[in-house]
Amino acid sequence: MRKSIIRGVGRYLPEKVVTNFDLEKMMDTSDQWIRERTGIEERRFADVENGETTSYIGAQAAKKALDMAGLKPSDIDFIIFATLSPDYFFPGSGCLLQEHLELFGIGAMDIRNQCTGFVYGLATADQFIKAGMYNNILVVGAEVHSSGLNMTTEGRDVAVLFGDGAGAVVVSAHEDNDGRGILSNHLHADGRFARELWVESPGSRYRPYVSEEILKSGKVYPKMNGRYVFKHAVTRFPEVILEALEAAGEKIENVDLVIPHQANQRITEAVQMRLGLPKEKVFSNIHKYGNTTAASIPIAMSEALEQGLIKEGNLICLASFGSGFTWASSLIRW
Ligand code: UT7
Repeated sequence: MRKSIIRGVGRYLPEKVVTNFDLEKMMDTSDQWIRERTGIEERRFADVENGETTSYIGAQAAKKALDMAGLKPSDIDFIIFATLSPDYFFPGSGCLLQEHLELFGIGAMDIRNQCTGFVYGLATADQFIKAGMYNNILVVGAEVHSSGLNMTTEGRDVAVLFGDGAGAVVVSAHEDNDGRGILSNHLHADGRFARELWVESPGSRYRPYVSEEILKSGKVYPKMNGRYVFKHAVTRFPEVILEALEAAGEKIENVDLVIPHQANQRITEAVQMRLGLPKEKVFSNIHKYGNTTAASIPIAMSEALEQGLIKEGNLICLASFGSGFTWASSLIRW
């Protein structure tokens, strides 16, 4: 049976490091507060003024994923780009990625599913490949949050959490019957909670999309009901991981590595404990990058591979939860 494998993985992090101490100079916060509540020590901010846009950093990660896969841009049949911080309101960053890769004419689709965007993208790629429509798909998760955060005390509850970065994978058709491949994907959303973590403007709900009044009201900045999101996250993560295992007839002790979306170290630890997993089986790098939303899972995959934590034949579970609310998992026999 035709399956999809992840043939290449790459990441790109902007060079500029912003530590918690740097944030202390911009708003009433402290390294201790951020570290204790989230585990974050520093994050990266893109140099947007000099061209380090969402599509650009996505393309840099994509180039590395292509290198690992041993493929050229022209081998790619389709682009899926997950982001909540596209370069422009439209067109999507997937179209703009084509400029950076000089890869014109193939289909490009943006996915706006926030923290869960990458897993939604991977699931979509998997289905296109299994259906025989494409052979090699680029799935990119990239975010430039730093352009859209309120870096004052008013916005501190959200601003300290997010960072910029990009990750990408090449998903390819795999015909061998060796058990390798994406085993299943599980996608969920519950729009009743849409306004618990959101950016209200720009959007067609207002005429015009943005006005002086909207700017003054702060509706252009992300708002989050932090405690509420936290409570849902620690339930949904284990639930969707167990759902994937059940679908594959696997047990939690057979999982070699869980790669959760990096939202908060406390969430990651709660998930690890609820699943009864040892610490080393749940990947974490939030201390270095903060929450990079759609980029966090492919960045983490790329680092886990480099650290030798993912080997051929391993059972890997990706899981995410975020705005929408949306939550999702993918189970992969690497
Ligand atoms: O990736 C998408 C999914 N997102 C998440 O999963 C995030 C989920 N939520 C969280 O991770 C946590 O709720 C936060 C890290 C965002 C906040 O932690 P918390 O323990 O829930 O804190 P809190 O919001 O209840 O705030 C506690 C206090 C408040 O002060 P008072 O009311 O107790 O006086 C806040 O005003 O901390 C204050 N505070 C801050 N203080 C210093 C909020 N933000 C900051 C800050 N620095 N940056």
